[in-house]
Amino acid sequence: MTEPTTSAPANSPLIVLAGATGALGLLIAHQLRRRGAEVRALVRPASLSGAEAESLRQQGVQVVAVDYGSLADLTRACQGAGCVVSALNGLRDIIVETQGRLLDAAVAASVPRFIPSDFSADFTRVSEGSNRNFDLRREFARRLDNAPIRATSVLNGMFMDLLRGTAPVVLAGPRLVLYWGNADQPLDLTTMQDTADFTAAAALDPTTPRYLRVAGEVASPRQLREAASAATGRPYRLLRPGGLGLLSTLISITKTMVPAPNDVFPPWQGMQYLRNMLSGDAKLQGPLDNNRYPGLEWTTVRALLAANR
Ligand SMILES: NC(=O)c1ccc[n+]([C@@H]2O[C@H](COP(=O)([O-])OP(=O)(O)OC[C@H]3O[C@@H](n4cnc5c(N)ncnc54)[C@H](OP(=O)(O)O)[C@@H]3O)[C@@H](O)[C@H]2O)c1
Repeated sequence: MTEPTTSAPANSPLIVLAGATGALGLLIAHQLRRRGAEVRALVRPASLSGAEAESLRQQGVQVVAVDYGSLADLTRACQGAGCVVSALNGLRDIIVETQGRLLDAAVAASVPRFIPSDFSADFTRVSEGSNRNFDLRREFARRLDNAPIRATSVLNGMFMDLLRGTAPVVLAGPRLVLYWGNADQPLDLTTMQDTADFTAAAALDPTTPRYLRVAGEVASPRQLREAASAATGRPYRLLRPGGLGLLSTLISITKTMVPAPNDVFPPWQGMQYLRNMLSGDAKLQGPLDNNRYPGLEWTTVRALLAANR
């Protein structure tokens, strides 16, 4: 472990952040600094000289190189933290093994709280095998629940940003909302930015429960159509190629033809995610925690799509 490169204000709580150079991690680091926290970002040695690490340093984040294979190194890096936040991304070797070592290190360093890299729809409710990435999160959750540390998972549904990116739902070209199954199934959607802001607040809150559930907007495919039409001023139509059974068949075909077993988000896994959302299996249950922290404003689908015009 190298020494921290930047000092932070005295007496502010220390949050250790793994995966801080990632898309979500960078946003969490920014929000933690905005809230006055001292942040120690753990990065792999190869990432020390990258633009992301430099941007973290410029925000006053301590950027610390760690060997993720070494429990001793990770334990030193976790010393003094009030909470360890993981925004790591990957498959079993990262989500279960590397994150597991980070968890062991947090326990060894007597860190009281741990926020795992879940940031998803409600993976606790879906059946084994229905979503490869959710299976990994449940496997890690079993380990986390047996560890002597207080854990909080942030469940945010699908990143709303994907509606204007890779998720084949709101199609700007043909002005369609593509869905499978029921046009009135509510879907939980939260921007990455709002998820990061909420996660930063949760990291600094010593009273968080095991699960926190948020959604910037809960909207059905029919409501997405209305939002897209209102945001762009041009009418969108609903397109239903079939039911969830047909989607399952397409998932099997896609997985056979393009298995990409080492990709974190291959097309078939994205389709599994959509199926979990459109079936309601991974729907967030009970009252949402959106109002837990004052001052947080939640981006709506309409605002997101309008901003993208
Ligand atoms: N709900 C949703 O719709 C949704 C969508 C996308 C992502 N997510 C979730 O958000 C979380 C963060 O995802 P992201 O997109 O921000 O990830 P990302 O941009 O891919 O960043 C991943 C981070 O993990 C680190 N990392 C990767 N492999 C590593 C390894 N072997 N050892 C140590 N560090 C490693 C990377 O560090 P380096 O810079 O060193 O490579 C990077 O900081 C994940 O839980 C992901 O599943 C949710």
